[in-house]
Amino acid sequence: MSILVTGGAGYIGSHTVVELLNNDYDVVIVDDFSNSHPTVLERIKELTGKTFTFYELNLLDKEGLHKVFQENDIEAVIHFAGFKAVGESVSIPLEYYHNNVTGTIILLEVMKEFNVKNIVFSSSATVYGMDNKAPFTEDMPTSATNPYGYTKVFIEHILEDLAVADNEWSPILLRYFNPIGAHESGRIGEDPNDTPNNLMPYITQVAVEKLEKLSVYGDDYDTPDGTGVRDYIHVVDLAKGHLKALDYSLNHTGAQAINLGTGEGYSVLDVVHAFEKANDIKIPYEIVERRPGDIAVGYADPNKAKELLGWEAEHSLEDMCRTSWKWQKNNPQGYNN
Ligand code: WQD
Repeated sequence: MSILVTGGAGYIGSHTVVELLNNDYDVVIVDDFSNSHPTVLERIKELTGKTFTFYELNLLDKEGLHKVFQENDIEAVIHFAGFKAVGESVSIPLEYYHNNVTGTIILLEVMKEFNVKNIVFSSSATVYGMDNKAPFTEDMPTSATNPYGYTKVFIEHILEDLAVADNEWSPILLRYFNPIGAHESGRIGEDPNDTPNNLMPYITQVAVEKLEKLSVYGDDYDTPDGTGVRDYIHVVDLAKGHLKALDYSLNHTGAQAINLGTGEGYSVLDVVHAFEKANDIKIPYEIVERRPGDIAVGYADPNKAKELLGWEAEHSLEDMCRTSWKWQKNNPQGYNN
C-alpha cells in the first residue's frame, strides 16, 4: 500500500516525504515542478537512502492521474499541490481557482473511483481571515481576503461536504501557520521561484546578499514592537504532524480541521533579531508601509492537534533561524546551484 503525495517535490512536501520514507512508508509523488525542482528528488533519496515512485504530472491531467492510481495501490493521499502566492492570486485568479480547486476536485473524483477516501489536505491559517482574534481555534468561522485564501476555504468546504455525503471519507484539513526552517542537513529547504513573498526566505536572501535589505511591512500595529506577529513553525515539525494526521485519517472517518502551529507568536523584528543572534549576521532592514491584507496578530491554539493527534511542535525559533540559514548558505542559488 502506498501514500500518494501531490506536490511532494515542494518545500513542505519534500520534508514530509523524507519523514514518510524514514518511517518505512511506500511513497508515490506527483509534481509538475511549477514551484519545485527535479533536484529535490535526488536530495530526498540522498537523505533517506530510499527510493519512491515519481510522476511529473499536474492534477488537471485526469487521465494521467487515473494511470497513477491504476499502477499503484494507493491507500491515502497527502495533498500539497497548489499555487500559493497571495499577491499573484489577485492578478491571476482564474489560474488559481482552476489549478487549486478544479485540480483538487479531479483528484477527489479519481480517489472516489478507486475507493480511496483518506486524505490529508494542506490548508492554511489564512482561512481565519481578518475578523477572528488570536489564538485561533478550529471552530472559528473561515473567510479570505484573496483568491489564494479562497481556494483553501473552498477546498475545506468541498472536503467537509464530501464527508457528510459519504461517511467513509476521512479528510484531515491541516491549517499551517507560518512554516520556516529546513532539514538539519541543509540539503532541502525553501526555494521560491522569484523574489520571496514570505519573511524568512526574504531574510535569508538578504543574508546571502542576493537582496539588499528587508522591508518591514509596518511598525504601527497594536503589537509589542508595532510589527506583525505570527506563529512560526519549523517545517520538520510540520512534516511530522502530517504523519500523525495520516495515521488519524487511516483509523477514523469524518472531516477534521486541525491547526499546526506552536501557539507562540513572534513579531517580524523578533524573527530578525533571532536570525541575527543565531547566525551572527546583521540583517539590514527598513520600516515601510503596511502590506494590504496583512493581519496584525495571528497564532494558533494548538490544543486540538495535541489531543487528537498526540502532536506538538518541538523546534525553537533559534532552530528555525539556524536551519533556514544553513540551507540558504549551502545553496545560495537554491536548487539551481
Ligand atoms: C509574515 C510577517 C508580514 C515579508 C502567508 C500566507 C499563508 C502562508 C504563509 C502559503 C507579516 C511580514 C513579510 C517581508 C515583512 N502562505 N513581512 N516583510 O503573510 O503571515 O502568511 O504566508 O501557504 O497562507 O497568508 O506570511 O511570511 O508573508 O509574513 O515585514 O518581506 O512578516 O507583514 O507580518 P503571512 P509572510
